[in-house]
Amino acid sequence: MKPKFVLVLGTASVLFAAAVVANPARDAIVAGFAAEAGVSAFSAEAGQAMFLAQFTGGKEATPSCTTCHTSNPLAAGRTRVGKPILPMAVSANPDRYTDPENVAKWFRRNCTSVLGRECTAQEKGNFLAFMISQ
Ligand code: HEC
Repeated sequence: MKPKFVLVLGTASVLFAAAVVANPARDAIVAGFAAEAGVSAFSAEAGQAMFLAQFTGGKEATPSCTTCHTSNPLAAGRTRVGKPILPMAVSANPDRYTDPENVAKWFRRNCTSVLGRECTAQEKGNFLAFMISQ
């Protein structure tokens, strides 16, 4: 069963409805987005919707996160020049979302390419909740 929500308790602890590799650095990143967004929980469903959505505000060559990451978070993706990208799902790639600067850099770059703007803290938290649930 997939958890619908990732609950953020206190500042740095995250509860999962399914057994996922817990990681304090990743928990802290999620908690940071929760504090920034002023929410106590993120929606994995909303994160999935953003991951799969087709946008028109960004670059024509990259209308969706799935352009590079594929629609299957468990699968490897490909950059525009064909370089492999490791899977985005935490279950398939436990090192994901554990370096705050890397997470910030790629959200900034990819959201700008796909949406034509930076993602909000809420959108980033939802996206991570989805990838943690996968
Ligand atoms: C043009 C191709 C491309 C698109 C489109 C794209 N990404 Fe990525 N993404 C990458 C690459 C390349 C990396 C860095 C390599 C890696 O982490 O394996 C990356 C890494 C990331 C990371 C960092 C992961 C980590 O472990 O720190 C996040 C978060 C991310 N992408 C989110 C998104 C989101 C959200 C979207 C859609 C709004 C998106 N990406 C669309 C290519 C893309």
